[in-house]
Formats: sequence, structure tokens, C-alpha cells
Amino acid sequence: ELLERMCKEHAVEYDMVFKGCNVATMKRGSETPYGMVEDAVIGIREGKIAFVGGAQGEEGKRIVECSSNVKDLGGALVTPGLIDCHTHVIYGGDRSLEWEMKLAGASYEEVAKAGGGIINTVSNTRAATVDDLFEGGRKRVAAILSEGVTTMEIKSGYGLEYEAERKMLLAAAKVQKEFKVKVEKTFLGAHAVPNEYKGRSGEYMDTCVEMLQKLREEGLVDCCDCFTESIGFSVEETEKLFGRAKEMGVKIRLHGDQLNNYGCGELTKKFKCLSIDHCEYSGEKAIKAMAEGGQVAVLLPASNYFIKETKLPEVGMMRDMGVDIAVATNCNPGSGPCCSILLVLNMACTRFGMTPEEALRGVTVNAAKALGKEDEIGSVEVGKAADLCVWDAQRPSELSYYMGLNLLKECYVDGCKRE
Ligand code: NIG
Repeated sequence: ELLERMCKEHAVEYDMVFKGCNVATMKRGSETPYGMVEDAVIGIREGKIAFVGGAQGEEGKRIVECSSNVKDLGGALVTPGLIDCHTHVIYGGDRSLEWEMKLAGASYEEVAKAGGGIINTVSNTRAATVDDLFEGGRKRVAAILSEGVTTMEIKSGYGLEYEAERKMLLAAAKVQKEFKVKVEKTFLGAHAVPNEYKGRSGEYMDTCVEMLQKLREEGLVDCCDCFTESIGFSVEETEKLFGRAKEMGVKIRLHGDQLNNYGCGELTKKFKCLSIDHCEYSGEKAIKAMAEGGQVAVLLPASNYFIKETKLPEVGMMRDMGVDIAVATNCNPGSGPCCSILLVLNMACTRFGMTPEEALRGVTVNAAKALGKEDEIGSVEVGKAADLCVWDAQRPSELSYYMGLNLLKECYVDGCKRE
């Protein structure tokens, strides 16, 4: 009777309520590991999380009693929807022949002579239509989403000319339209110097600045990225691009320290980049700069594995200095055609020495930060999007423990179930 009266007095309308679940909220600063709330209730209203708390608390009890659409999850684990914050999932052709050649001992030059390497993907991408690119990426996107990814970043960077970069970004936009997933579109025109600009990387960078401007005006760019490396672009060239991106209010990220220690830490700090990605060769100076500048270190263990890199990122130093670490698939045709975020969690632990909790932070709250979207997604907190995964698991560490076992039961984007 008392409850009935309370329900009437404080009529709270939730579109949906979950009960009977343990929630790894991944909230920053939580007192419990994983921000865990056991025997929890989650209230969803207008696609957002409107309540999360224990079922035994007064509010939790009232919500369950007063709501009509209550779903019992039977003791399942709930996490935030996963975020794959670094992918090149849209591209033309594939490079399995090149992989076979490399395994048989072919050198970089031999692969390039046989038409392999990044330029091979560039010709296939230039020859493709937007639909070809979307259809080619469909199976990879579907595989990544099947493991609970609710937001993914997709980069351009295999067109290296305006029309082809535009096609890639349009195909990325189509992914968001056709699948139930949020897509963050990143312009990576400065991924490699195309053949027609061979030996003239500075001039090509001017073209990248023009492309960025146009594509941003067309609403196709959320973020700008650059491959700053001995075989990519110099620090000075990168500064030119980032200077313009900053003026335009475009978010900035950087592919850095993948093959050499190239001074990327200072650069990212200077331009207030959201993240520096790869980081195998980031040393003390770079890591200190990231810690001071608040950049996320995005680590890509599947590529480290695929190219048999022996240098591992300095995870211990990052941890000690308080750098936030994210992990991602880096799904791409050359250095790692990885379509499994759960396998990445496992590799983050086995290869990079991260804890299961750090790995899960890497695909939730820290990945959200790397995309500049931490106030919207990445944790189960009131006011954030109701992007949620329901797992057939008792403990969050099961997600990084298994290899090749998908424990996902249900996935929600903005409170709507993905079928
Ligand atoms: O993230 N570092 C640059 N780009 C990709 C690989 C590019 C390719 O070989 O196609 C990477 O590893």
C-alpha cells in the first residue's frame, strides 16, 4: 500500500528497467573494481540511463515496483556498450596474397614490387564505389559489432585524393545508417604519400589541408589524424595539418611512435590531441607529455601480434604516470585485419601486461575519452546513452579470458535492442 502510494506520488516513467544483473559500470573513481554494482537495477528513459543502483536500496525497489516494463536479466553481467576507437575497417580489396608472401619470407621490396603494401589498397579503394566500399566492409563491421561494439571509429586514408577519401567517409557514414552503431569519422588523408606525390610529401600535406577543409564543410569529418613517422610525415608537416584542424575546431588524434620514437608525445600535447595511437616506441619523455597533456594512449595489440613486433609499449610506465590507456582492433588490411574486440582484450592482457580491468577500461571509458565523447558514452552512469551489453558471464574478466568465445547475449544502443 505504502509502495503504491509512493508510486503514485512520485510517478517515475522509465521506458525500460533491467533488474537481476551485476553491472560493471566502469565509472571513474569508483570504490569497487570495475565500478561494480551487484544485484542492480538500471532505469532507461528516452535512450539514456536515468537510474543505476542496488535493487535493495529504496529507490531501486520503488523503480522495480512502479515500472511496467521490467526485464529480469537472470543474474547476467552488464557492461557499457564496447567502443572500438581505432579502425580502418573500410577499404578496397584485401592483402591476403601479401601476407602469404611475407610468411614465405618475401622482403618489403618484393611485396611492393608485386603490387602489395598500402599503395595496393589505395588503387583498389580508388577503383571502388561507395557501395563497393560499404559492401566490402560489411562482414568486418558485422563481426566487430557481434561482440558488443556500440560505437566505432572509422578512418579514411586509403584514398589519398579528395574523391576517394570522400568515398571512404561516405561509406563510413553508411555504416552508421545501415547498422545500429554510432560511427566517428576520422580523416586520415595523411596516411601515406601517394605515388603521384612521391618525394614531395610537403606538397601532399598542403593537399591534405585542402581536403580536410572541404570534407569538414561537407559534414564528413569528426576528427583528423596523421601518420607521423619516418615512413609517414614529419613533425613539421604534421604541425601544418593540425594547426589548420585546430582552427577549424576539428578533434585531433595521431598515429605515433609505431616504428620509432619520433617525438610524438610533445606534438600531441602541443595540439591537445585526444590520443596518440600505437605507442610501441613511446619512451619516458613522450609518456610524461601524455600524462601532462591528458592524451589517451591507444594501444593496438592485434597489430603488434600480426606484424610480429617484438617491442611492446611501456604499459607499466604509462600506468605509473597515470596515462589513460585504450585498446582497439585497428582493423586494417596491412598490419592487422582484426575483427574481434574480445580477442584484443585478451591480447592486451597476455601480450601487453594489462589487467582485465584495465583492458575493459580500454574499450569503454578510456576509448570514449580517446574519441572526445566521455560525457556521452563509455560507462553506465546517469545521463549517458543507454548503450549496454548483457553478457553470459559471472565476472568481467571472462571477457578477456576466453579466446574465440563470444559471451554476448544482448546489446542495446540508445536503449533499443540490436537484433
Ligand atoms: O595502423 N600505421 C598506419 N596504418 C595502418 C596500416 C596500414 C596498412 O598497411 O594498410 C596501421 O598499422
